[in-house]
Amino acid sequence: MNIQWDARKYVQEFDFVPKYGEALLALLDPEQVHSVLDLGCGSGALTAQLAAAGYAVCGMDASEEQLRLAQQRCPGIPFFKGDATDFALKMPVDAVFSNAVLHWIDRERQADTLRCVYRALRQGGQFVFEMGGAGNAEQIYDALRQAFEKRHFPYQISFYFPSIGEYASLMEQAGFRVTYATLFARPTPLKGDEGLADWIRMFIKEPFSAIPTAQADEIVRETVETLRPALCQNGVWLVDYVRLRCKADKQA
Ligand code: BEZ
Repeated sequence: MNIQWDARKYVQEFDFVPKYGEALLALLDPEQVHSVLDLGCGSGALTAQLAAAGYAVCGMDASEEQLRLAQQRCPGIPFFKGDATDFALKMPVDAVFSNAVLHWIDRERQADTLRCVYRALRQGGQFVFEMGGAGNAEQIYDALRQAFEKRHFPYQISFYFPSIGEYASLMEQAGFRVTYATLFARPTPLKGDEGLADWIRMFIKEPFSAIPTAQADEIVRETVETLRPALCQNGVWLVDYVRLRCKADKQA
């Protein structure tokens, strides 16, 4: 996993992440689903909504800081620490639910995650998830790449944003039957004049880790100005998110 979190800032400034996940809940089939694992539950915003919708939910996340926030938010829900590429449940669940998590996992480890999810489900159980898909935040990554390469700094990001075809194929190889898949653009507004700069500092850590702070700041400023005509509309910054939303079942 490629995550380094500032969990509190994430909750305060990027609360759209769980908000947009609400539509995902509607893909769960309440007639067939009672128990749900919220995989990569973060601070528990969607776990709480799953519980409010009547599901017997538990939450798993790799970050202790996020889990503490989740436990404060939802005192009655069981949460546990786990690695999405290597976990096992004591009892299988009816559904695994995951929002904005799978793109943090390297392409090479996706099969491990899908194997764990498959094992965690009962026969006929459902896997419902949303992640960044092909083309996600591409304008931002391209502008950053230009700014790094102009200065002869290496630029690499490890997020994984698959197409429908690529991910459906991985799911089928893991034994799932894919029943729904859609890839759609979801331009997402950010808070404040510094919205895009804050987003870059929050989510793009890797290429900045090896360069001096002054030059990192210069790259962020230059990237923001490059993107202003395309991604700042009426004073509101947008991220050019593309989402891959899927539903699959463990064939009975
Ligand atoms: C996303 O949710 O698509 C995302 C967030 C942060 C970094 C990369 C992708």
